[in-house]
Amino acid sequence: MITKDLNAAVNELNAEGIVAIPTETVYGLAGNAFSSTALKKIFDLKKRPLFNPLIVHLKSAEQLEMVAENIPEVAIQLAQEFWPGPLTLVLKKKSIIPDLVSAGKDTVAVRVPNHPLTLELLAKLDFPLAAPSANPFGSISPTTAKHVEDYFQENLSVILDGGDCQKGIESTIIGFENNQAILYRLGSLSIEKIEEKIGKLKLKNNIDESSPEAPGMLSKHYAPATSTLFTDDIEKLIAQNSGKKFGLLLFKNYSDSLPHSQQEILSTNGNLEEAAKNLYAAMHRLDKMNLDVIIAEYFPNEGLGKTINDKLKRASTKD
Ligand code: TXA
Ligand code: MG
Repeated sequence: MITKDLNAAVNELNAEGIVAIPTETVYGLAGNAFSSTALKKIFDLKKRPLFNPLIVHLKSAEQLEMVAENIPEVAIQLAQEFWPGPLTLVLKKKSIIPDLVSAGKDTVAVRVPNHPLTLELLAKLDFPLAAPSANPFGSISPTTAKHVEDYFQENLSVILDGGDCQKGIESTIIGFENNQAILYRLGSLSIEKIEEKIGKLKLKNNIDESSPEAPGMLSKHYAPATSTLFTDDIEKLIAQNSGKKFGLLLFKNYSDSLPHSQQEILSTNGNLEEAAKNLYAAMHRLDKMNLDVIIAEYFPNEGLGKTINDKLKRASTKD
């Protein structure tokens, strides 16, 4: 049930249940990070493979010491700079973190989310919240309480309504090797903003897909059920698919070749942050239109445009 009642969420979480929570990025499916009962419920409801670890949401950076150790100086600097906010840090874990959270790894992913309701919720709890995005494994992440309800219906008794997510795409994930920051997943904090503070980021390569460092890096992910094409030549693909029922996902301008009702424009004034915020909701709407195919265009490859392109590329990858 969708509710704004914080106490309903507190009670459910204290009873080792799970609750959908709003964050500035996407909605999360949250449970007590120290309770294996709650953690199992998260994996079950999402149908998430156990090899895929969860992000732990803290109420403030002061809780870092409770869950992580050997924290590199650059990680502290990033936390000070960007928390609360859409940045997740992968750090050496302390033993208080259950194996279910870390998928047996010796690291834990942590962040302080920037949403007033969820910060208020965390302040009322004696434990941090483990929370993956609140979608079934492999589907599009939810950016409204209604998206979450559509996915889980009566199987989720509390969906805490915090409105539309302000960033609209998952957090950026950074790990560390020899004190050097490494990008694990593109997200709503741009590479440029991070590099402004700490210099050049290394990109994680040689990804082993059977045990990915961050399965946000699995090639197929975040996908609509409708087959999705991703192109730098929209008009050509429109011509090629002329016999089919298709919809368009575009940056700022409508195409003349289709009714506007079959087109999603992410930012009429060409703002990449606004486009990122609207991306998943647009994908959800197109996915509900019973189309044969969704055709998405390349975004400018800078700032959050890189993140949008990354998500669209994954959405369009065949299994
Ligand atoms: O914005 C977000 O990050 C949202 C909100 C709810 O906070 N959460 C989210 O969680 O996107 P999820 O589970 O959908 O994605 C978490 C990513 C996965 O790709 C997972 O593999 C990676 O974080 N991850 C978690 N723990 C990790 C670890 N110890 N090492 C490497 N990657 C890790
Ligand atoms: Mg996810």
